[in-house]
Order: sequence, then structure tokens, then C-alpha cells
Amino acid sequence: MSEMGERAGMTGGAAARVFSGVKPTGHLTLGNYLGAVRRWVAVDQHQADALFCVVDLHALTVDHDPARVRRLSRQAATLLLAAGLDPELCTVFVQSHVDEHTRLAYLMECTASVGEMRRMVQFKEKAAREETAGVRLSLLTYPALMAADILAYGTDEVPVGEDQAQHVELTRDLAMRFNRRYGPVFVVPRATQPPVAARVMDLQDPRSKMGKGTVVRDGGAGVIHLLDEPDVVRRKVMRAVTDAGADVVYDREARPGVANLLDVLAACRGEVDPAGLAAEYGSYGALKRDVAEAVVELLRPVRERHAELAADPGYVDKVLRAGAGRARDRARPRVDAAYEAVGLLPAGV
Ligand code: TYM
Repeated sequence: MSEMGERAGMTGGAAARVFSGVKPTGHLTLGNYLGAVRRWVAVDQHQADALFCVVDLHALTVDHDPARVRRLSRQAATLLLAAGLDPELCTVFVQSHVDEHTRLAYLMECTASVGEMRRMVQFKEKAAREETAGVRLSLLTYPALMAADILAYGTDEVPVGEDQAQHVELTRDLAMRFNRRYGPVFVVPRATQPPVAARVMDLQDPRSKMGKGTVVRDGGAGVIHLLDEPDVVRRKVMRAVTDAGADVVYDREARPGVANLLDVLAACRGEVDPAGLAAEYGSYGALKRDVAEAVVELLRPVRERHAELAADPGYVDKVLRAGAGRARDRARPRVDAAYEAVGLLPAGV
């Protein structure tokens, strides 16, 4: 049976397929790590046929500097390896190296409606910010490309942070709609999220997500980067905005700053009960000190390994080249099948 047939669930026994990605619009953050990357390393690459992608095309949806995107793409790939993705176990690659993503994105644009795209929260937020500079059409159609990223691989599971859940939901809708119209080409995927820290908040503005882009806007004091030096991490955590009231309680609505610190601490310790941790602390200061040390220790091996790998760009290039080859082989049959299903004449080569 073809690879596609197996992935569509026609035979049992195949490992689940996992796909996820990270966008090189800034330096990777603690949010990216706790919300997504850590699980890719600890769970997904061992249990599934997993692909992890630096989604560079998505970085072009907003104003960007070409040299910076190139630099950040390499850095993101290097960081994924430094965090522990093992090219022997999973496929690590760069989106623009595999044409199938854009080939399929067009079919997704022909499946989605304008209204659906406009309803995406991330579009609304980013479009509001970009208004003066002019919103790019690709910012609106971004979720169609993201759906293509996922569906090209017959993905079962998409491990992401909470902010991407809406995009994965849309991807499910598009897969089902396409299959209904043209026949069963796509697997309908589902999002998986970590039990805690699925939405790490900005340390200076705990009602907003900790995001790569915040640095450019607000100087980045509330954003911890994976490559921050220990002293920088400590300073950012110790200056985190906490809430009125001095006692440590877990309440995401009324005390978002403290709840965020408790989430981060629980995630660093591999625990799932941030509310339970609150009882261990009598003051914000003690909590912050523990959070700072936990984050420093969590990131230490990633930073050290990144320094080693960054000194050997040839190795990273080799991994990405091999990864792109494997990704292409996996994606092409399904994207070809989708082209045929919608009525396009096969090229016959
Ligand atoms: P991106 O690059 O913004 O984020 C990469 C991953 O990190 C998660 N994440 C967070 N998790 C918890 N707290 C936070 N503060 C936080 N910030 C980010 C994101 O949820 C994501 O899992 N559109 C995607 C990239 C993408 C993609 C895909 C993902 C493109 N195609 C296909 C999965 C499958 C994005 O912008 O992620």
C-alpha cells in the first residue's frame, strides 16, 4: 500500500505523524520552548514520525529585513538541534526548501473563505498593529499556508502552544471540506498542548503573550530568549511585574503576573500543578528567585550546545539538506494527489 494510503488510516500500526514549526521572526523565546519545542524533544520525536520546520515563508508576512530572516532561520534551526531534536530520530528542515508547501497553499486558498481568514485572532491583532505600514495580503492568507504545512504530511498531531490552536482548528475544517468536495486526500489533524505553560505571558505585561515580536516594540524586558545569558534571565525575572497583594496565590484572572511565574516554575520542574506550588511561597521575592534559577538551569544546556553547533555551520546545513530531502519525499505524493483531485491535469513527466 502506498505511503499515502497508510497515512490516511487504511492500515493499522503506522506511527502517528507529527508536524510542527517555528517562525523566524525573532529570537526564540521561553514561550516557544515551554509551549512547543520541549515536547517535540522529550516526547514527539521518540513516539512519532515527526517533522519540525523553520517556517521561513511565514516570516515574510510582515515587514522584514532579508539578512535578519536568513540569520534567524539558521539560528532557529541550530537552536532546535541544540534543544535536543535528533536528526536520526526526526526530520528538521526549512520550509522554503520544500516547494510542496506553497504548491498546496494555493489549493488551501481555493478551499478557505475570506471570512474565515479575517476571523483569525492573530490576523486581527497583527493587522491592527501594522495598519500604517500597510497589511500584506500574505498576512491574511497565512493560515492557508499553515494548513498546507500540516496537511501536506498527512499529519495526525500538531504540538503547539495555545495561541496556535485556532489555526489548527481552521486546518481541520479545511481538510474536512476538501475531503468532502474532492475525496479523501487529507488526514484530519489535531492540536496537542502541554499541560502547563501552553501560554507563557510577557513578564512586563502578563495579560499579553510572551512573543518574539514584542522585543522590537517594547524593548523586550518581559521576554526571555533561549540564548539570554544567566544574568539577563535573572534580571528579567526579578523585575517581572507582579500583582497588588503580597501573598502568593494562583489566579490567572486576578493575579496574572504571579500565575505566570507559577506556570513557568511548574513547567521547569516538570510538574503539572502550578496552583499547588503557590503554597510553598510566602513572598514574591522568594518565588522570583526560584523561577530565575529554574529557568537558568533549564536553558543552560541549550545555550551551551548552541554555542558548539553554531561553530559548525556545515553540520547544520547538512542536517537541513537531508531533512528537506526527506520532507519532500513525504509531501510530494499527497500534494500531487490533491492537485489531481481538484481537477488539474497531471504533468505526465
Ligand atoms: P511561532 O513561531 O509564533 O511559535 C512557535 C511555537 O511556540 C508556541 N508559542 C508559545 N507557547 C506558549 N507560550 C507562548 N508565549 C508562546 N509563543 C509561541 C506556538 O504556539 C508555536 O507552537 N504559525 C506558527 C508557526 C507555524 C506552524 C505551522 C506551527 C507555521 N506553520 C504548522 C505548527 C504547524 C507560529 O507563528 O508559531
